[in-house]
Amino acid sequence: MGRRETQAAGLGISRLGIGCWAFGGGAYWREQNQKDVEAVVHAAIDRGVTLFDTARMYNDGNSEVYLGQALKGVRGKAFVVSKVSPAKAYRATLKEECEASLRNLGTDYIDMYMMHWPINAPGIRHFTDDAATIAHPPTTQEAFETLAQLKKDGKIRFIGISNYGVEQMRQALAVCPDIAANELPYNVISRAIEAEILPFCARNGIAVLSSMTLQQGVLAGIYQTAGDIPAHQAHSRHFAQQRGRGTSRHGEAGAEEEIFETVALLRRLAAQLNITVAQLSIAWVLAHPGIACALVGSRNEKQLIENLQALAVNLPADSKAQIDETSQKVLSRLGNSPDYYESSSDGRIY
Ligand SMILES: NC(=O)c1ccc[n+]([C@@H]2O[C@H](COP(=O)([O-])OP(=O)(O)OC[C@H]3O[C@@H](n4cnc5c(N)ncnc54)[C@H](OP(=O)(O)O)[C@@H]3O)[C@@H](O)[C@H]2O)c1
Repeated sequence: MGRRETQAAGLGISRLGIGCWAFGGGAYWREQNQKDVEAVVHAAIDRGVTLFDTARMYNDGNSEVYLGQALKGVRGKAFVVSKVSPAKAYRATLKEECEASLRNLGTDYIDMYMMHWPINAPGIRHFTDDAATIAHPPTTQEAFETLAQLKKDGKIRFIGISNYGVEQMRQALAVCPDIAANELPYNVISRAIEAEILPFCARNGIAVLSSMTLQQGVLAGIYQTAGDIPAHQAHSRHFAQQRGRGTSRHGEAGAEEEIFETVALLRRLAAQLNITVAQLSIAWVLAHPGIACALVGSRNEKQLIENLQALAVNLPADSKAQIDETSQKVLSRLGNSPDYYESSSDGRIY
């Protein structure tokens, strides 16, 4: 068993995890049918998937609520990850948020509770416009001491972090050496964490969960050009500032040509391998020795079954090498800042 399989087995998590951001619907993901949510959750559990990834801020708590409903009767078979806003990481508010997540989920423990983003002023501004919180943000010390206390109290089983860079991990580990996992954006066109973050996590025994494995459908091959992507899903640095039509903050030119050259390669290789583009993209992420679990959002049971079949794909070395080489052009354009929403020189992850 390799390191990533050992890590996944040690935590009791599956190699593919269910991204629950769309559960409950809302402005970002539009309507999400609860019957489909329940079908995805039950089909996943029936096939040995354990990990379900949600957050308090996803759809104002509705992602947790609808996941909790879907898990009724099968809670014991699930490993539930939820996350707390860094703006709520003061001692008292963190405990309150954890209780609120437990109520939303209808459970008395969360398997892994993550700090959703590092605690710094630019990061917090994304979660709150409260001037007092921005001026006096919670400290890493109180946040991680409180997480450790929640673990002692049995409210959470593991402590996690999300979107943490190397320096931020060092600071958190100094308070709480007991950090089990870091959830970070990683996919064929988002490879920034390869340079420093993945090696640091490997050295420190921190399992890595990849978020946005399919780059919200781009890496399932559902779009032919950048112009086809809904504006609110094109506001990352991958795409030119104007694609976000007022929602982008990065001010950069993006790497659209290189991205669609990569997607074209994925289409060719997927056809040769007789698999789908989504399966190829998931298999590529899982082929990295530093990734314990790939999080994938599936809207319905059909997408889930297709995506789960990626676990059986044995990615040929020459196909992987071709994807690495072509997507390297995207990486060269976008650079090593893993914050894909702020400009490369002003990222919240360091
Ligand atoms: N920690 C963080 O800060 C963070 C940030 C982002 C995401 N995440 C986690 O990562 C999870 C996954 O990311 P994500 O939800 O952004 O997106 P994703 O998994 O990259 O993409 C999901 C979307 O791809 C499309 N799709 C999935 N399977 C497909 C298939 N087989 N064929 C065609 N299209 C398919 C669907 O689009 P349609 O809806 O158009 O059908 C689906 O909504 C999230 O749910 C969340 O749990 C965490």
